[in-house]
Amino acid sequence: MNATAAIGVTGLGVMGRNLARNFARNGCTVAVHNRTAGRTRALIEVYGDEGTFVPAESPEEFVAALERPRRLMIMVQAGEATDAVIDEFAPLLEPGDIIIDGGNAHFADTRRREAALRERGIHFVGTGVSGGEEGALEGPSIMVGGSAEAYDVLGPMFETISAKVGGEPCAAHIGSDGAGHFVKMVHNGIEYADMQLIAEAYDLLRQVAGYTPAEIADVFRRWNEGRLGSYLIEITAEVLAHTDPETGGPFVDIVADAAGQKGTGRWTVQTALDLASPVTAIAQATFARAASGQRDLRAAYAGLPGGTRPPLSRTEAERFTSQVEHALYASKVIAYDQGWKMIQDAAAEYGWKIDLGTVARIWRGGCIIRASFLDRIRAAYAFDRDLVSLLGEMEFAMEITDAQVPWREIIASAARRGIPVPAFSAALAHYDTLRADRLPAALLQGQRDYFGAHTYQRVDRPGTFHTVWTAPGRPETTT
Ligand code: 6PG
Repeated sequence: MNATAAIGVTGLGVMGRNLARNFARNGCTVAVHNRTAGRTRALIEVYGDEGTFVPAESPEEFVAALERPRRLMIMVQAGEATDAVIDEFAPLLEPGDIIIDGGNAHFADTRRREAALRERGIHFVGTGVSGGEEGALEGPSIMVGGSAEAYDVLGPMFETISAKVGGEPCAAHIGSDGAGHFVKMVHNGIEYADMQLIAEAYDLLRQVAGYTPAEIADVFRRWNEGRLGSYLIEITAEVLAHTDPETGGPFVDIVADAAGQKGTGRWTVQTALDLASPVTAIAQATFARAASGQRDLRAAYAGLPGGTRPPLSRTEAERFTSQVEHALYASKVIAYDQGWKMIQDAAAEYGWKIDLGTVARIWRGGCIIRASFLDRIRAAYAFDRDLVSLLGEMEFAMEITDAQVPWREIIASAARRGIPVPAFSAALAHYDTLRADRLPAALLQGQRDYFGAHTYQRVDRPGTFHTVWTAPGRPETTT
C-alpha cells in the first residue's frame, strides 16, 4: 500500500464518517477504517465520489496508508473504547506520529494518554469537535490540545475543514495536553446553561404571558435578530413552531418533560467543584435536567401549593416579554462569564496558556453555542487580554445595568407564581454575590470556628485566629 493519506479516520460512526468526508471534500487523501469493515465499505459506496479515500480493512493496512508523520484520528466512544483503539494502533506507529482523539473525552483522560504516548515519542492530540453531525461535515468548531509541534502539522488541515466566520477559521490550538478537551467540556457546560436559560424564558412566556408555542416562536425569531441572536435561539423558534403531525398540536406539548444528558455538562460541574470555580448557572442547568427526570419525587410534590397566577393583559404580556429578554440576556452574560472564569482557573491549575479571545473567536461558528454575542466577547478580550470579567467591559456593564429592574422583576414574578427559574436565579445570585461589599460568609467562618476550631481571619488585622468558645469570656487566640 502506498502511503498517500494525509490523515486517517478510524471509527466511522456519523461524526467520524462526516469528518472523513469533510477532509476528502477539501482535497485531503483520507484513509478510512472501522472495526466492522462493512461501515468502511458503505462509506466508499455512498460517498466515495466526494474525494480520495483509501479504505483499510485492518489496522496494519490503515497505518501503511498514512504518509509520515502519520496523522491518525480516533472517532470512537469516550472512555475504554478510546484506550482500546490507542492500544491497538500505538504499537504500529513511530516517534513523531500523531494520534488525534476527536471524541468527547474527559480532559483528565487526555492528559493521562498524552503523557503516556509522549514517552513513546508519539503526539497525542485531544481535540474538541463541536457542531454535531452537520458541523462535522460542513464545518465544525475545532478546539485542539496537545503540543504546538503537532498543531504545526495538523493546524492547516483543521483550519481548512472548520467553520469560517469573517473569513477566519473556527479552529485553533487551545493549549497543551488536555486543554482542547477541557475547553470543549466547558463549551458543553455553557451549552447546558444557555439551553436552560432559553427553556426558562419559554416557560415564563408560556405560563405568565399566556402565549402559545407558535407565538413564542415568533418572539424568539425577533430576538434572534438582536443581541440574543444565536444558533440555539434560532432552533428554539423552529422547535416551538413545529406541529406534531399525529395530534396536530404543538410538538413541544407531546414531548416528555424529562431531559437527558450524555454527561459533558456533569463533568463541567464536577471539575468546577474541584477547581472551586462557581459555575452556578451551568450547575443549576445540569441539576434541572436531573430534577426533570425524578418522576416519583415530582409525583409526590404534585399539587402542593405554590403561588398564584393572575393572567396578564396583552399590554402587560408585551411588557413582560421585554423584561424576559433583559433577564435572559443578563443571565446569559453571567453564565458565559462563569465559563470563561473556569477556563482561566483551569489554565492556572494545569499550566495551560489559553488565549481567552481565541476561545471566543473559534466559537463564533460551527459549534452549538455559536452566536454574534461571541464577537463581543472576542473583542473584549482582544482589547484587554487580562480582563478579569466580562463585566469589566463597558458595554456589557451598561447592558447589565439596564437589565437590573426587569431581571429582578422577572425572578420575583416567577417566585410569586411558583414557576421554577433555577438558572435565571443562579445567575442573578452570582451577580449579587460578587457585587456585595459584605457576605454572610463571615458568619460561616464563625460557625466553623465554633464547632470545629477551623479558625478565621479578621478584617482589621492580619493573622489567623480562633476563639476558645468553651472558655469563660471566650478569649481569642492567634494560631
Ligand atoms: C457539540 C455537542 C455535542 C453533545 C451533544 C449532546 O458540541 O456538538 O455539544 O458534543 O454531545 O450536544 O449533549 P448532551 O446529551 O449532554 O445534551
